[in-house]
Amino acid sequence: MFNNMDNKSDINNISIEALKNINLDDVNLDMPVPDTEPGRQYYFMGKCKQLVKNISDEIGRPLRYYIKTFGCQMNARDSEKLTAILECLGYEEAEEGACDFILYNTCTVRENANQKVYGRLGHLKSQKRDNPYMIIGLCGCMMQEAHVVEKICKSYPFVDLIFGTHNIFKFAELLYYRLQSGNQIVDIWENTDQIVEELPSRRKFPFKAGVNIMYGCNNFCSYCIVPYVRGRERSREPKAILREIEHLVEDGVVEIMLLGQNVNSYGNGLCEPINFAELLKEVDKIDGLQRIRFMTSHPKDLSDELISVMANSKKVCRHFHLPLQSGSSRLLKSMNRKYTKEQYIGLVEKLREAMPDLSITTDIIVGYPGETEDDFLETMDVVRRVKYDSAYTFIYSRRSGTPAADMEQVPEDIVKDRFDRLLTLVNEISKKRTGRLEGKTAEVLVENVNAHDCSMVTGRLDNNILVHFKGSKNDIGTFKNVYLKKAMGFYYLGEVR
Ligand code: SAH
Ligand code: SF4
Ligand code: F3S
Repeated sequence: MFNNMDNKSDINNISIEALKNINLDDVNLDMPVPDTEPGRQYYFMGKCKQLVKNISDEIGRPLRYYIKTFGCQMNARDSEKLTAILECLGYEEAEEGACDFILYNTCTVRENANQKVYGRLGHLKSQKRDNPYMIIGLCGCMMQEAHVVEKICKSYPFVDLIFGTHNIFKFAELLYYRLQSGNQIVDIWENTDQIVEELPSRRKFPFKAGVNIMYGCNNFCSYCIVPYVRGRERSREPKAILREIEHLVEDGVVEIMLLGQNVNSYGNGLCEPINFAELLKEVDKIDGLQRIRFMTSHPKDLSDELISVMANSKKVCRHFHLPLQSGSSRLLKSMNRKYTKEQYIGLVEKLREAMPDLSITTDIIVGYPGETEDDFLETMDVVRRVKYDSAYTFIYSRRSGTPAADMEQVPEDIVKDRFDRLLTLVNEISKKRTGRLEGKTAEVLVENVNAHDCSMVTGRLDNNILVHFKGSKNDIGTFKNVYLKKAMGFYYLGEVR
């Protein structure tokens, strides 16, 4: 459509719907660079596609890419967008060792996430020596830290492309400059208020999808780096969210996960007032959508309205992830979490009262600065009382720039001992909780063929627990009624009924 001379200068005005159906070969690359998004990126995708084709013709094979994603669902979702752009450009997916473009989408929430990236970068140097067309890219949360970018430029100068979380939508443009000039490209934005809608995206699963409802975080929990690397909270317009989900459902999606660092504060700052419970009610009305999940809920903003919308919905899954972080009210205050142990337990009681079959999971940090044995015992007490279906337990990791980094740290051996005790308790309770459905029949959404036994498939219960049972790849994306014959700790072995 863009090779039509009449439309030549119109790429900025073209409707978003039309942009989605663009054939990049039709983009008029002779016109001036568009200055509004997402038209500008489609223009650069067209430009990149030409360059990629030239290189492919020269070497007699398609160019190959590999994306490694670290961290949370936010990064996973971003990687789906990056993947789609690369595929639009003509890149084909390949193994890490056999690619011409490798991109690490990084996480910096704990130090071990950073170490993994440095470790891998060390190995890439020789791969690059053997392949003159090889491009190495780094993006994501780690890149938002100035000291990280400085270290990479100094110690790993062979990295070609570095960008951050705020300008991820500019990927095609940045890659174009790299391909065209051969220079190292570094583009990091400190913050943004921009949300660029309607870029291409490729889902990992045909039947389920993550949908961002907001970006960033305003909570500044004292231990956490996320607000510094993801910027201020920005909610997407409800219309854009609902339209995205409707399109996904038309395309075969039956389960969606609404994503945000704190979905409970969704809607702040939008022109027309709306809160998360109201958004959820609208999402619930979408025909054809069968399961709705969301992540993450900050306890301080969990409303009665949300509990009631959830309890009255047949689509919202009976699973609630409610991060505790610590059971000690003293530490919770120092963490800037804005709730006490009692308030947290009160919320759990309300949730269980409204939905007795609800699975509750959590995140817990051990060894936060100043944690005493008594503080730790308070955490153990909450774990015993709430009886989590599962819990992600983390050893506190000092993140420079956060308030907790300057507080007195707990000695490593003490933290390790507490961590082991907590993990033992969490696992013991979680096994018992998982087992409670043994002998019942429940609906399972089949996700994939079992990696170890291809006569088996693996699916997920509404409450997020995995079930393995006989089946084939034709079952993927369908719902089955499965008899939960045997609880195996954290999953079930079942039989289709
Ligand atoms: N927005 C989500 C959490 C995102 S980070 C929420 O508020 O729950 C995921 C988890 O990583 C957090 O819940 C916390 O348990 C853990 N985490 C964050 N910073 C950490 C740090 N410095 N050390 C150890 N664990 C941390
Ligand atoms: Fe981090 Fe707290 Fe924001 Fe979650 S709510 S991302 S833990 S600052
Ligand atoms: Fe990590 Fe960034 Fe998510 S720091 S946990 S990938 S928001």
